[in-house]
Amino acid sequence: MNRTFWNVYAHVYDQMATSIPYQEVQQLAEKCLEVRSGERVLDVGCGTGQFLRRLADRASGAQLHGMDAASGMLRIARKRVARSAMLCEADLEAGLPYEASSMDAIACMQVLYTARDPDQLLRELRRVLRPMGRLVLVNPHTPNPEAVPDEHFRRARERGYRMDDARLAIAFRVIVAMNRLIVREVRNKRYHFWSVEELSERMVSAGFAVRRVEPSVYGGTSALILATPM
Ligand SMILES: C[S@@+](CC[C@H](N)C(=O)[O-])C[C@H]1O[C@@H](n2cnc3c(N)ncnc32)[C@H](O)[C@@H]1O
Repeated sequence: MNRTFWNVYAHVYDQMATSIPYQEVQQLAEKCLEVRSGERVLDVGCGTGQFLRRLADRASGAQLHGMDAASGMLRIARKRVARSAMLCEADLEAGLPYEASSMDAIACMQVLYTARDPDQLLRELRRVLRPMGRLVLVNPHTPNPEAVPDEHFRRARERGYRMDDARLAIAFRVIVAMNRLIVREVRNKRYHFWSVEELSERMVSAGFAVRRVEPSVYGGTSALILATPM
């Protein structure tokens, strides 16, 4: 799949980002990274800038950087974090356009699976992270296109939220359709969903020590791993 796919996804991405499972992953990732003032932080495949916005609001004084290949995603990110983050349009397949050991913390959430060579991306993340730095990685293990909307509606109902948001319901339908295309790419072995064990092993092979594993996030479809360079 190519940039066009992600540019189309950009139209509904922020609706997905309002979901409870998405918000919870962001919250957990922020907690794991523990970004402090003055630190340099990179969000690889930053999408519409949701996580950068969160960091800008909560980790004041950090130097925030984001990169993504999709101009549609970055257009939204630019509006969201115009004055708070340095954004770069770049294809991670060409390597990360940052110097070695230049980042104190890196987030790479729901991006690794799209890489042509995910092991190479893991090595790139290792290269760019400083020796005592932190990496938060989120990657899917279970193909379930409906999981996030389903979990959102179930939890929202439990919380007594209003359930008559027609715009959200339509956006979720589009998101499920987009997710089905992602699952098709997994079946065609162009995208990579890995078990928690396989992901951990590959991270170790790339030079990381795994510090924390949350095996079931994003409606039970994905794992979150906190790692530091070995
Ligand atoms: C599922 S979204 C995740 C966005 C964001 N990390 C988040 O958690 O909300 C995947 C992102 O990876 C980006 N992406 C996909 N392939 C890429 C590539 N080769 N280089 C850079 N970014 C890429 C897409 O444009 C998209 O913004």
